[in-house]
Amino acid sequence: MSQEVDLGLRRFLKNLGLMTGGAAVLATAPWLQSCKSSPKESGTRKARLALIGCGSRGQYHLVMLRGITCAQVVALCDDWQPNLDAAHAMVPTARTYTDYRKLLEDKEIDGVIIATPLGFHARMTLDAMAAGKHVFCEKAMALTLEECKEVYEAYCAGDRVLYYCMQRMYDEKYIQGIRLIREGLIGDVVGMRCHWFRNADWRREVPSPELERRINWRLYKEYSAGLMTELACHQLEVCNWAADRMPVDIVGMGDIVYWKDGREVYDSVNVTYRYADGRKICYESLISNKFNGMEDQILGKDGTMDLTRGVFYLEEDHLNSGMRQLLEQIKTKTFASIPAAGPSWRPELRSAYTPHPVLEGAVSVNAGQSMVAADADGSDIILEAFCKACLSGERARSVVEEAYCSTVLCLLGNRAMEEQRRITFPEAYKIPYMKF
Ligand SMILES: NC(=O)c1ccc[n+]([C@@H]2O[C@H](COP(=O)([O-])OP(=O)(O)OC[C@H]3O[C@@H](n4cnc5c(N)ncnc54)[C@H](O)[C@@H]3O)[C@@H](O)[C@H]2O)c1
Repeated sequence: MSQEVDLGLRRFLKNLGLMTGGAAVLATAPWLQSCKSSPKESGTRKARLALIGCGSRGQYHLVMLRGITCAQVVALCDDWQPNLDAAHAMVPTARTYTDYRKLLEDKEIDGVIIATPLGFHARMTLDAMAAGKHVFCEKAMALTLEECKEVYEAYCAGDRVLYYCMQRMYDEKYIQGIRLIREGLIGDVVGMRCHWFRNADWRREVPSPELERRINWRLYKEYSAGLMTELACHQLEVCNWAADRMPVDIVGMGDIVYWKDGREVYDSVNVTYRYADGRKICYESLISNKFNGMEDQILGKDGTMDLTRGVFYLEEDHLNSGMRQLLEQIKTKTFASIPAAGPSWRPELRSAYTPHPVLEGAVSVNAGQSMVAADADGSDIILEAFCKACLSGERARSVVEEAYCSTVLCLLGNRAMEEQRRITFPEAYKIPYMKF
């Protein structure tokens, strides 16, 4: 296991052709440039890291860090003792803290990994950067639009490395898929369809009622912005990456359809984001039916890129299969008269398309059940890239900007649903990075 992860970043760069060039890949994913350079402080020095938030995602990062040779976990922080104890059992040499501000006073820490509920992301990131630490924060960026702006401005004004765990940006099949789109494989991009369906209530067992809100933080607006920041955040980033611009209008409807258990966040959302030229992202998430799983589809005039599965489909293949089918039907005299065109002989089903793989060989696919145990989804790579950056001090291009753009879109989606109106992207939250 550890050896496998250790090789992760190097193998990833090699697969993408980045050891020896890879201009097209770098143009597609400019944030990979910083992974290519060697840390100034080479040799045996390790990045001294602290984890703040030792819950399920935090512990997942600890497992990944075991295999990253340039990383050393030196401190852990959680204000919920059972999780702090569980993490400490995984890294017994680490110092433990229950107050993250005390941890930030520790001069022997280069970087912090923040894996707390969303409501804490902005405050902790700002405090950590102010204390001179590099930061790797879980997505989304922040709970409110104002906080997003504050973090973005603090990042721009300072010199600390800041990463957001938007692992699709470091997932080989996504990178190559977007490169192929940029090269014109699926023709003009005409729309996007993303969804994430699960059948689970998101609840965790609570030992006593006063702990309900802090343990089931995802269900309450004080800490969470619900499905949009927990799930859509990753997917909207991918849409903007593919479109190379930002939507201008947002409409949506959100409801609590099934899990009427006192939660405050929607369990069903449908949001449409419209770009200036009329192209749309059709986003849907529902957590009481998982038939459709999770998909990030970029729709082109000549084909469709299914980034989640790492496959693409060409309209041309479909036409061919329709033709073959028509010839077969003529042969078997299926029809009394032969239709010259139309849906009677061309099935309008996805199964009629031929899937072509984006990458050679096996591709690990997360069907949307859980991101915590996802395999080879880029999470290990982005974490290793951050560890390297803690040693080099080199920032990754566009990572913070991409996190800002997608988080702001999630929050505007919630605003459109809550206020039941069409939202035009507000001037106050535009940043120079955005193209509309
Ligand atoms: N990138 C991904 O794919 C992905 C996947 C899962 C979760 N996440 C993100 O990771 C974050 C954590 O999610 P999780 O499922 O691990 O939640 P969790 O509830 O399992 O863990 C959160 C931990 O933070 C601790 N905590 C809360 N407030 C704290 C404070 N003030 N100081 C110190 N510790 C505090 C809690 O006690 C808990 O141990 C969320 O932002 C979530 O969106 C990202």
